[in-house]
Amino acid sequence: MTTKESEPYYGWVHVLDWLPQFILLGLGGLCVLVFAISSNDVPVTVLAVAINVLTGWPLLGYMYSWVRINPGGWYDQIVRGAVVSGNELILDLGCGLGRSTTFIAKSLRQGQVIGVDIYSKRSLWGNSLLRARKNAEIEGVDDIVDFQYGDALAIPFPDDHFDVVVSAYLTHEIRTREKRVKMMKEIARVLRPGGLLVSGEIPRSRAIFLRYLWFGYWFLSLNHLLDLRDQTGFEVLQEKWMSNSMVIISKKPNLT
Ligand SMILES: C[S@@+](CC[C@H](N)C(=O)[O-])C[C@H]1O[C@@H](n2cnc3c(N)ncnc32)[C@H](O)[C@@H]1O
Repeated sequence: MTTKESEPYYGWVHVLDWLPQFILLGLGGLCVLVFAISSNDVPVTVLAVAINVLTGWPLLGYMYSWVRINPGGWYDQIVRGAVVSGNELILDLGCGLGRSTTFIAKSLRQGQVIGVDIYSKRSLWGNSLLRARKNAEIEGVDDIVDFQYGDALAIPFPDDHFDVVVSAYLTHEIRTREKRVKMMKEIARVLRPGGLLVSGEIPRSRAIFLRYLWFGYWFLSLNHLLDLRDQTGFEVLQEKWMSNSMVIISKKPNLT
């Protein structure tokens, strides 16, 4: 994919992880369909059509979501939750190419935002620290934005360091419950007492299953997302839906 050097490039979320499953299901479905048509067998034809629908539907849903996506609206809500005085020191965890980071930076007055990511190219097409820095430069916010390499499971900052941690569409990337709890504990560690965690998430919902069928199970349930906060001592202040997406604002308790 080519990118213009003068325009920011924020990448496409892609499904490389799931491509083998899609290809296997699709090929299997096509083979059964060819067999069914040549043998004139009704039950096998029904099975073949079902397999093809189960493969094609989630793929079409995935493409449709990219046509319909409205990151402006999603990130606006995140910024509203994260930036109150404009002087905050903010960590954008799982910042990727810095779309969320530059959105936040544009609302700051004297604060600073630091983007941290492992820059996985499996999660985001063309993901790289250098390209994130270039995006901040193009957006004119490189003086208040810094990007670093770092893992959400071992955040490279001291305790009680940040006023706000933002995590925009990161949690589903962390594949086991155990690791997600570890990430939440790390977020709690680097947040100052009373600091906010502002997360953009796409919880499982009826609309998600309608769009992706079985692939909807890839998304995490809202109960699980709230339970993660509960288990790690966060107090949930706000849950706000925006179409299929949601912003959850929670607070690290003040010390007593
Ligand atoms: C869906 S992208 C979202 C990127 C960005 N927040 C945005 O809204 O455009 C998820 C990001 O999480 C990052 N990621 C996945 N696992 C991570 C980990 N263990 N630590 C830090 N970042 C991680 C990926 O590299 C990817 O950039």
